[in-house]
Amino acid sequence: MGVSSGGPGTGLLDRRVERGAVDRVLDRARAGNSAVLVVHGEPGIGKTVVLDYAVRRASASDLRVVRASGVESELELAYAALHQLCVPFIGPRLEQLPRPQRAALAVAFGLREGPAPDRFLVGLAVLSLLAAAAEDQPLACVVDDAQWLDRASVQCLVFAARRLLAEPIALIFAVRGPGGDPRGVRQLRALPDP
Ligand SMILES: Nc1ncnc2c1ncn2[C@@H]1O[C@H](COP(=O)(O)OP(=O)(O)OP(=O)(O)O)[C@@H](O)[C@H]1O
Ligand SMILES: [Mg+2]
Repeated sequence: MGVSSGGPGTGLLDRRVERGAVDRVLDRARAGNSAVLVVHGEPGIGKTVVLDYAVRRASASDLRVVRASGVESELELAYAALHQLCVPFIGPRLEQLPRPQRAALAVAFGLREGPAPDRFLVGLAVLSLLAAAAEDQPLACVVDDAQWLDRASVQCLVFAARRLLAEPIALIFAVRGPGGDPRGVRQLRALPDP
């Protein structure tokens, strides 16, 4: 393993490639363009460490950070992960969403009774919510252990990620394993240190 090049006290050894990719994604968001990065690799390879680096860099450079983490025991709970990610934005912003999106999200998050919401509407609501929040301050959404995200959350997040364009939003995911194939998403395989 290389000697720390992340600066004193960062605790991040080497990982220059990963840090470079994280920095580029955050720079892009800061400049007003959305960007998505998926860090994937074997258990214990250092994905969470890379995400922690992203959180530090984002916070230090005036991006607002929101975090979520897949939890194995919540794999079957629809919208559990999305709820974690969006909870800082609901409240006043919920009322500003178009009515069908607001209703769908409120049911998805258990704020209102109703039949299972249309995932398309929930995806749109998430997109609206993130875009509105990013108008106040560029945003870094950092999602760890994405292999354990419930399916409904994955669908809505991928839907939103694909439609973000000129919004100052960085989405950074860590996932165990070989990674997926989301179009237009930069993938980075975390490899063992030489
Ligand atoms: N580049 C690194 N610098 C410093 N510590 C590291 C680095 N890579 C891994 N580690 C250490 O190795 C351990 C595993 O790292 P980490 O938790 O980031 O792995 P992971 O890929 O997220 O694993 P999992 O798939 O289980 O979530 C941690 O104790 C972490 O501190
Ligand atoms: Mg991890």
